[in-house]
Amino acid sequence: MCGIVAYLGPRNGVPVVLDGLRKLEYRGYDSAGLAISDNHKIEIHRSVGKLLRLEVKIHEKNLSGSPVIGHTRWATHGRPTEANAHPHNYEGVVVVHNGIVENYLALRQQLTAQGHTFSSETDTEVISHLIVCELKAGSGFVEAVRQALLKIRGTYALAILYEKEPEKMIAARQGSPLVMALGDAPGEYFVASDVPALLAWSRDVIFLEDGELAFFDRREMRIVGVERGEQRQKVARRIAWDPIMAEKGGYKHFMLKEIFEQPEAVSNTLLGRLNEERSGVDLTEIGFSEKRWREFKEIKIIACGTSWHAGLVAKYWFESLARIPVEVDIASEFRYREPLVGPQTLALGISQSGETADTLAAMQEAKRRGACLLAVCNVMESSIARLSDGVFYTHAGPEIGVASTKAFTTQLTALFLLVLEMAARRQTLTTDALREQVAALLQLPAALEKVLSRAAELEKMARRYHQVNDYLYLARGLNFPIALEGALKLKEISYIHAEGYPAGEMKHGPIALIDENMPVVVLAPPDRHLEKIISNLQEVAARDGRLLLFSGPDLKLGQDLSGIDHFVLEVVGEELNPMLYVVPLQLLAYYTAVLKGTDVDQPRNLAKSVTVE
Ligand code: AGP
Repeated sequence: MCGIVAYLGPRNGVPVVLDGLRKLEYRGYDSAGLAISDNHKIEIHRSVGKLLRLEVKIHEKNLSGSPVIGHTRWATHGRPTEANAHPHNYEGVVVVHNGIVENYLALRQQLTAQGHTFSSETDTEVISHLIVCELKAGSGFVEAVRQALLKIRGTYALAILYEKEPEKMIAARQGSPLVMALGDAPGEYFVASDVPALLAWSRDVIFLEDGELAFFDRREMRIVGVERGEQRQKVARRIAWDPIMAEKGGYKHFMLKEIFEQPEAVSNTLLGRLNEERSGVDLTEIGFSEKRWREFKEIKIIACGTSWHAGLVAKYWFESLARIPVEVDIASEFRYREPLVGPQTLALGISQSGETADTLAAMQEAKRRGACLLAVCNVMESSIARLSDGVFYTHAGPEIGVASTKAFTTQLTALFLLVLEMAARRQTLTTDALREQVAALLQLPAALEKVLSRAAELEKMARRYHQVNDYLYLARGLNFPIALEGALKLKEISYIHAEGYPAGEMKHGPIALIDENMPVVVLAPPDRHLEKIISNLQEVAARDGRLLLFSGPDLKLGQDLSGIDHFVLEVVGEELNPMLYVVPLQLLAYYTAVLKGTDVDQPRNLAKSVTVE
């Protein structure tokens, strides 16, 4: 995700926008830029890398003007280069954008056919071209923007300037956040992706709604609906946040914010990759030829930590749905075990940061042995992404908390899309079966929202168990890796020892650990393992283990459930339970850590990206 800041009013807008971008840099830091409207010309300054590089670049220029729009980028389409940095200008229409224009390729092709030339690889640039087309067709600035937006599919938060209307500014929102504040002076307006950028100037804010466009000039602010252009009235709200809290969008920790961002992150990872016409999935962006897809005879998944857990889930999916053999390796083990790898091997590296040294080294080893490399990464142009023959990006946005949460659920989402692509190409699933899986995927963000709306139940559960010394997490089948992930979340942020186990493995030793002091988390979704997992949880109950049960509705246990901590989740497609069941475990770990008073966002001994072996 990216950060947008814009200002129109009597002040010099440059320091206002730079200050706001500093407050939003957690939203992305691949590049930064700003545009200043001054006397019928618009000056644009951009730089790759963090905002500081832009500030150094413009420091000597004593820039001044208003309105000003600014942007700090988290690259999704187009490498983090200066040419791809926002703002984007086409014939005097200058745009900064947060979101994804899902149909940008088709729009770009149409515009190119009409003689347009593009100066960047981004999806964003098509927006300025579309507005210019409408202006040339005779529309005024506001109507030109509104008509252009009606042609766009996807998400956007926008701030727009037009050279020929130097005293005006437009903002618009669809699916990406945008908030506005009224300044003290008449005709003074602030716009930003998030509240932190505005708090220095005003606490009276107006949240633009999806499908709304705001127009500003020195006299007035008007809000209209994009669909029909009707005028809308808005009331400002008083924000009570302190600036530090606001850095986290009102959440106490980045980890909690990122847990709650998962529905949006999963939606953004799906955007532009589902294709009703084809098998339901469209991963042409990976750039593998038909021949290359057909050549793969096996997959070697390579990753660490949470990303390794995502790989373990993917193994179940690849083998059951795409019928291709998969091995999953912890990266630090892979490279030293003389792995059997060749040109028919797809080496699939999973890494949020794209910089994990163990995973990078293992992928280099796989490349040396002739494998084809595909990376599932969250950071554009990261080392693992650059090393690979193909990259499939998650669109989680920056993950600041050391404990991986939205990166994990978006990795699972991306991996599931890969599985469906592979299954379609290998014809191991019928078109109807593929469409069914895609339909289930589209329900996932709403299902995640429902679990998140019950966070208070997990906080209560954490209160009962936060003083224990050990935890066990049990599950079966493709949810076993979620038991591992739940245990990892708990131990890495609350420092409580926790182990994840295949539930069927308990009788081979670990059941000796069970007594009245041992909380045992059991994942019992309505799937093919349900009967067996019920037996396992009864074995736990028979030894006075303290059960924390996560199941679907209408669970028949044959015993009274009232004494058990029981969290019921709704039914999604069996294959998608891992994305759903991990969320209450993330929240259980989070609230436990808060009760323990640990440093949730930066737990002891850990780093966000382990760039040493
Ligand atoms: C997970 O919460 C940890 N932060 C850690 O296990 C992490 O998943 C691992 O270091 C791999 O990082 P990567 O995904 O950036 O490669």
